[in-house]
Amino acid sequence: MDAWLDRVFCEDALAGMARIPDGSIDLLIADPPYGLGKDYGNDSDKLDADAYLRWTEQWIDAALPKLKPAASLYIFLTWRYSPEIFVMLKKRMTMINEIIWDRRVPSMGGSTRRFSSVHDTIGFFARAKDYHFDLDAVRIPYDAETKKARSRSIFVGAKWLEVGYNPKDVWSVSRLHREHRERADHPTQKPLEIVERMIKASCPPGGVVFDPFMGSGTSAVAARRCGRHWVGFELNPAYCRLIDQRLAELDTATEEAEAE
Ligand SMILES: C[S@@+](CC[C@H](N)C(=O)[O-])C[C@H]1O[C@@H](n2cnc3c(N)ncnc32)[C@H](O)[C@@H]1O
Repeated sequence: MDAWLDRVFCEDALAGMARIPDGSIDLLIADPPYGLGKDYGNDSDKLDADAYLRWTEQWIDAALPKLKPAASLYIFLTWRYSPEIFVMLKKRMTMINEIIWDRRVPSMGGSTRRFSSVHDTIGFFARAKDYHFDLDAVRIPYDAETKKARSRSIFVGAKWLEVGYNPKDVWSVSRLHREHRERADHPTQKPLEIVERMIKASCPPGGVVFDPFMGSGTSAVAARRCGRHWVGFELNPAYCRLIDQRLAELDTATEEAEAE
């Protein structure tokens, strides 16, 4: 087993990226600080706009050589910087989708001088035309009622009715509430459902997922649950411990399920 695989390096991603061999990564999932001043126990989200975009370009240029030819990249952003960062990436890769993550924010007071923003903008990019993409692994099955409603003769034998539908580019998945079973102690933890969909579609079984900004380690947990390898970086030592803890809990749950 390669020494750099299946581990988080508790250090600055830019400083540590040389640890990862060029051409070794199947899927890059980046969930960087959004440039909105969030507190991650460090100053990583406190850059002004120019410095934030310069830093983004630096880590993108350090990360892209790590990708295999058929690799893809997903990046979580908000509307504030997605236009600039998508332009940056489009100069280097092919843009496949803009995915809107509808966080299912409940309707309450909200903003009074603009429409309340309730989505993340996710960019999906590929290195080459023959990028890996397994739609069948992420199709959403039709429920019995819908299947019945589509039982007219024109639909009989339709493959899509049997195998389920394409998840489309608007993903409506609830953000993780404080009480949510999955919730760990991190301010911007992403739901496993979102990250697992990216991995199943865009990383072949046994492949390697790279996450430069691991936070609570959602990508590592998702990769292990999906039978993929992973590697990543995280600046905050408390979050690095959280990642180890989440993985240990996953292993215990798996062992218990296997023993039943
Ligand atoms: C948006 S959060 C990631 C959340 C993660 N996707 C999850 O589900 O928990 C970004 C993380 O990047 C970390 N970070 C910021 N700058 C970094 C850097 N230069 N190198 C490594 N990690 C960094 C922050 O400490 C923070 O935990």
